[in-house]
Amino acid sequence: MDMLSAITSPITDELVQFKELFDSSLTNSNPLLNEVLVHICQRRGKMMRPILVLLVAKLSGGGISKSTLHAAVALELLHTASLVHDDVVDESGERRGQLSVNAMYNNRISVLAGDYLLATCLVQSSLTQNNDIVGVVARLGQDLSEGELLQLSNVSNSTVSESIYFDVIRKKTAVLFAACTKSAALSVGMSVEKAERYRLLGEYIGICFQIKDDIFDYYDGAGIGKPTGNDMREGKLTLPAIYALTSSNDKTAKDLAAKIKTEQATNDEISHFIEFTKLQGGIEYATKIMYEYKDKASRILLAMPDSEVRASLIAYLNYVVDREK
Ligand code: IPE
Ligand code: IPE
Ligand code: MG
Ligand code: MG
Ligand code: MG
Repeated sequence: MDMLSAITSPITDELVQFKELFDSSLTNSNPLLNEVLVHICQRRGKMMRPILVLLVAKLSGGGISKSTLHAAVALELLHTASLVHDDVVDESGERRGQLSVNAMYNNRISVLAGDYLLATCLVQSSLTQNNDIVGVVARLGQDLSEGELLQLSNVSNSTVSESIYFDVIRKKTAVLFAACTKSAALSVGMSVEKAERYRLLGEYIGICFQIKDDIFDYYDGAGIGKPTGNDMREGKLTLPAIYALTSSNDKTAKDLAAKIKTEQATNDEISHFIEFTKLQGGIEYATKIMYEYKDKASRILLAMPDSEVRASLIAYLNYVVDREK
């Protein structure tokens, strides 16, 4: 069995239902909006968030409810909206192996289509008929925006710190995974205490996920489906670079980092700095931290009774850290 089918085998039918509901939530009679939605939906992405929702809900043994499916769709819609807006903010021209919405159309259409996805997310979250889930999704929207703003204002902040980095990735990425696991638990009527344990599991998974994504950015990206090297072009220094800088006294490297933060660095200068980061062991360090979070997530899973679904969640966790896209 390949990695992905090992993950999804307990939720094959539910995943089909998820896709149908996701697609039907996004039809619109306005020709332009419909065209943009078709463009977005023709590449599905890895569906990491809905798969996580479905697996966690399935763990309860009570079966996946309608509420679970609406929560999965709401969260994938919010994720998709955040990607459409993210490509505007990051001035990125490629997403899921095709032109990003901003490259295919323009920034104005991206902002509006992203808003439409966001509003559709709210419709879907109300259809869960669970006020606690609606609250989770609404606060999640606030956190994601705050995380992106924090990241943006940090570009012009000369302090390079791991704690700011973790603040950013918690808010812009990990809270979404945490909302997936928590909503899943709530959707099948798990106790608030149990739901909190799942929220934490999602947070650890999300932190691993973003560290891995940030590591991708240091390499040539054939097969990733989006540009690499983009973070530094946008003035962003992620965990490998933060480690390299804080563990070295290299004045040239520090000057280069400062220039990258002004978004004025040339491609050659960025290549130089990436080289420095690698030589300084930045990738190994980030990988080590990622595995520490993976262990925290594993410990939560291993404390649960052994089951086919638990094995799938362990395979999911392995995929997050081993994946190649
Ligand atoms: C991309 O998420 C955004 C990050 C949090 C790094 P994914 O890598 O899950 O994107 P898709 O949905 O599979 O395209
Ligand atoms: C990921 O940020 C979090 C989002 C809100 C999309 P990135 O900017 O690193 O995501 P990618 O690498 O473009 O997918
Ligand atoms: Mg971004
Ligand atoms: Mg981006
Ligand atoms: Mg990225």
